[in-house]
Amino acid sequence: MLPYQIIEKKSRGLSLSDLEIHDFIMGYTDGNIPDYQMSALLMAIFIQGMTTEETLALTKVMLESGERMDFSEAPGFVADKHSTGGVGDKVSILLAPIMAVLGIHIPMISGRGLGHSGGTLDKLESIPGFNVNLSSDEWRKLVLNEKLGLIGQTGNICPADKKIYSLRDVTATVRSIPLISASIMSKKIAEGIQGLVLDVKTGNGAFMQTLEDSRALAESLVSIGKGYGIKTTALITDMNQPLGSAIGNWFEMKESVEGLQGRGPEDLMEVTYALGAEILKMHNPEISDQSALEMQMETIASGTAFEKLKQITELQGGDPHVLDELEKYPSAKFSRTIEASSSGYLNRVDTMALGFAGIQLGAGRRVISDKIDYSSGMYMHARLGDTLESGDPLISLLSNDEQALNKLATQSSEFFTLSESPPEVPPLIVERIK
Ligand code: URA
Repeated sequence: MLPYQIIEKKSRGLSLSDLEIHDFIMGYTDGNIPDYQMSALLMAIFIQGMTTEETLALTKVMLESGERMDFSEAPGFVADKHSTGGVGDKVSILLAPIMAVLGIHIPMISGRGLGHSGGTLDKLESIPGFNVNLSSDEWRKLVLNEKLGLIGQTGNICPADKKIYSLRDVTATVRSIPLISASIMSKKIAEGIQGLVLDVKTGNGAFMQTLEDSRALAESLVSIGKGYGIKTTALITDMNQPLGSAIGNWFEMKESVEGLQGRGPEDLMEVTYALGAEILKMHNPEISDQSALEMQMETIASGTAFEKLKQITELQGGDPHVLDELEKYPSAKFSRTIEASSSGYLNRVDTMALGFAGIQLGAGRRVISDKIDYSSGMYMHARLGDTLESGDPLISLLSNDEQALNKLATQSSEFFTLSESPPEVPPLIVERIK
């Protein structure tokens, strides 16, 4: 079938065969199918969905588009964590060194910003020199020797996802259960891990905004993981407001370091420890929730998790001193703080709009070739349920683009809704899917 016919078939809601999926995805990966046809197919999948069989076929072709790592010689448990994407979600940067210090091997392959959501790779690259493009061999050695390596898809690991991911980022085709499932799980299976914990975000800053959709995504991810023999658990966690206070690449890096130094925001630490506990319990089912928490907290109190992040930063070419001297990082030239125009309880935050606002400030990409401004971003001053007086700060916007900042400053108060009575604040850890 011609690519045209495959797009047409999916646009009519029909199921594609394994071969059709294979040929289209590999044709695109090899450069024989252009971006515009891939974009059209992605939009057709986005609108029409995919069956479980199609999702599995898509995962398989993405996985087999590159090499699959084998960590069977690793002396301990090999595991990873992945998030479906949100705003201010910097958990991976904390969790990876905590787990490595606790003896878990973490071969982490992360993504870049996607749609309104940030990406771990962009955050890591805010550290001058940090190289997320290690060769598979360099990365493998790092994981085996130091228990942690933080990379993006290389030309060798899931190249199909790498190419398609960049296209989805700018074509509004992210929010799709089959596309997210295949994208995440192909990378995770390629890592050669034994255990995987997934942070499936739910709420107005997540790709899946209702609990029902988040559950469906979690179930899809968990069943693919188990199908490949990986111990897989998902936590559905709340994304009705950014996680922590910092949004934007360097800001999030800084907040992660503060977390590793024992000064992290409560919500960020709670999600980090909950996901970490899942990995520790997969490795050793005898461990209680309380011991899993204490073990993780000890890596923070002793400074060993922070030291691990610095060590890996250095080994991956980054400047670890930047992490010791957070205040010296170049700050954005312009900033504006948005204040509450009346008093009341903070009832709603338009989290997705904040994610897109971050892109306007320079923290993400509008088109694939955009360069990120690592110093731009936002700081939240209030959380859902807080009581605010008129004039209290809601959010600070920081950017090197004064025009974008001013434009956004006029709109930003619309991202916050205040009410006279206290809202029901959703729990942070909503559900566990196993
Ligand atoms: N993270 C990924 O790696 N892929 C997605 O599609 C969404 C989140």
